[in-house]
Amino acid sequence: MLLEVRDLHVEFHTREGVAKAVNGVNYSVAEGETLAVLGESGSGKSVTAQAVMGILDMPPGKISGGEILFKDRDLLKLKPEERRRVRGQEMAMIFQDALSSLNPVMTVGEQLGEMFTVHRGMSRKDARTRSVELMDRVRIPAAKERVGNYPHQFSGGMRQRIMIAMAMALEPSLIIADEPTTALDVTVQAQVMDLLAELQRELNMGLILITHDLGVVADVADKIAVMYAGRIVETSPVHDIYQAPAHPYTKGLLRSIPRLDRKGRELYAIRGLPPNLLHIPPGCAFHPRCPMAQDVCRTDVPPLYRVSDGRRSACHFWKETLDAR
Ligand SMILES: Nc1ncnc2c1ncn2[C@@H]1O[C@H](COP(=O)(O)OP(=O)(O)O)[C@@H](O)[C@H]1O
Ligand code: SF4
Ligand SMILES: [Mg+2]
Repeated sequence: MLLEVRDLHVEFHTREGVAKAVNGVNYSVAEGETLAVLGESGSGKSVTAQAVMGILDMPPGKISGGEILFKDRDLLKLKPEERRRVRGQEMAMIFQDALSSLNPVMTVGEQLGEMFTVHRGMSRKDARTRSVELMDRVRIPAAKERVGNYPHQFSGGMRQRIMIAMAMALEPSLIIADEPTTALDVTVQAQVMDLLAELQRELNMGLILITHDLGVVADVADKIAVMYAGRIVETSPVHDIYQAPAHPYTKGLLRSIPRLDRKGRELYAIRGLPPNLLHIPPGCAFHPRCPMAQDVCRTDVPPLYRVSDGRRSACHFWKETLDAR
């Protein structure tokens, strides 16, 4: 396995108390595989990814337990310089907002080129050639002319392509894309997502795709992990989950996707708000919002029950949920 996150716990020590952002997350990504991580805002998707990438804000963040195995080595046990090397060369991250991730006072060519001069010891001239090739590869029109432009001279979609080019430059084995298309308009979103999926297949990379948009993952993901209050509440191969979710929360997320065939009907929304991580509800954290909640849900934390091969659901009533579609 390329990446295996095991029983990861992350907390934030704040003035108000300890926010339990990640509470025992397990997930894995193989070479060439795409894992989509879903969940409402604040469910711990980014914090988990930051822990994997090694860019968590510490303090206030603290990894209080677990392992992050990458190519069979626990990243949490590496020496700082080795950790930096893995982060710089073997994994890369793509963020939602390219403008704040790219350097505004360096041209795009200089930034791409630096990947090759710093990490590969190339001459500036060769690095520039490679930069133009990369820009071509992410289909930036007139790459040769635009290599000397600054980030603000590109549209949002083109900037996102440049971020993808930066991430791919050193051909890492793992890419983490954290809401990579959220800031773009819908047609551009689809193009950028297609490009990302295409390059991922070509380079046989593992991809973790974080999104709150179930609509975009159906075509690109192999499997899905749904997060709620810092836990994974359902994992599944992508097709099964669309056909029949085994957790009421997943079901709620699916019903809130706009669909053409349901045009005109009111969009379903999960009632209530995600919990305050300083005070996660006892039992099943979802119980205050769950239409299927029973007494046991208020007291007993549901384990991740095995539903079938590759499928798990953290719901005491997963069978009933499957049946009640
Ligand atoms: N730098 C921080 N300081 C304090 N708390 C944080 C910080 N970053 C994240 N958190 C806590 O972790 C929770 C989960 O955040 P995050 O993983 O970013 O959610 P999302 O699923 O939207 O990506 C937040 O709701 C917040 O309580
Ligand atoms: S365990 Fe209970 S509250 Fe939690 S999702 Fe299942 S039915 Fe709902
Ligand atoms: Mg996030």
